[in-house]
Amino acid sequence: MANPRLYSGMQPSSGSLHLGNYIGALQQWRAMQSDFDAFFSIVDLHAITVPQAPDVLREQVRTLAAQYIAGGIDPDRSCLYVQSHVAAHAQLQWLLATITGFGEASRMTQFKDKTAKGGQEAASVGLFTYPVLMAADILLYDTEVVPVGDDQKQHVELTRDLAERFNKRFGKTFTVPKPVILAGGARIYDLQAPESKMSKSADNDKGVIWLLDEPARTAKKIRSAVTDTEGSIRADRAEKPGVTNLLDILAAMTGTPVAALEEEFAGQGYGVFKTAVADAVVAELAPVRERTLELLGDPAELDRLLDANAERAAEVADATLARAMEAMGLR
Ligand code: TRP
Repeated sequence: MANPRLYSGMQPSSGSLHLGNYIGALQQWRAMQSDFDAFFSIVDLHAITVPQAPDVLREQVRTLAAQYIAGGIDPDRSCLYVQSHVAAHAQLQWLLATITGFGEASRMTQFKDKTAKGGQEAASVGLFTYPVLMAADILLYDTEVVPVGDDQKQHVELTRDLAERFNKRFGKTFTVPKPVILAGGARIYDLQAPESKMSKSADNDKGVIWLLDEPARTAKKIRSAVTDTEGSIRADRAEKPGVTNLLDILAAMTGTPVAALEEEFAGQGYGVFKTAVADAVVAELAPVRERTLELLGDPAELDRLLDANAERAAEVADATLARAMEAMGLR
């Protein structure tokens, strides 16, 4: 029997992934590839819901593709492609928008969060319909499983509602997908402000580990991570967020559970501990960085690969779109 279909994606909205993206998504996608028929997209149509400079966007799409591959997504096994290269995404998005309630879309917490600062007047209609485009991404591929962080769970729930609504109104057309919320290690925090998630928009660059940082810089950031004055290496999210974060990072890098690490480092100082974390992170990320830079050295080859994968994706997506159009009476 064929493996179940899996779909996920990331926005090309920065020049490098950070350690939170790497641990929270890429590492886990890599592990899931062997059990699923996986599609991974670079969601450039989602990225343009906020202003992007065209040249920068083009570069970031390639850089993200290279990081996916360097991080272990095998483009011969999984379909790794750029969302805008497959026209069906925007087309199905429109069909789904016509069955999405205005109130329903207004309840999406990410839209509310993203517009909380600048106000809704400053937001684009595209940002508002962002979750409907995400539903189109997922439904085009008869997806069963969608691995996402918990911030995207509500969007997958909307996708399920839209699929069920469409099927009920127009006849069985879409597979109803399930979200898989990516595991605990997924929550990686800022090294300088360990109460907040590691984020590309952090105020202080020292708190963020970029996949494409020089190894020496990565090690330095870890050695200067904020800890506490207690001096003991144990996990306690409330009282010791900095040390807990470093334990989570080390656990993700080495595959050793946090409890075992606590034992291993009992009685040791923070200096020794931080050096161990820095060594583990560098050992994991340095080869990924090298491979990314190598892939970026041959953009024509990278583009060829993305084109070929977009063709594979379009075959699946076009068939689903045709089904949906027919069901609605459009063909
Ligand atoms: N909105 C997702 C995020 O920001 C990215 C995304 C777009 C996605 N389309 C998707 C994730 C489809 C999973 C499935 O993280």
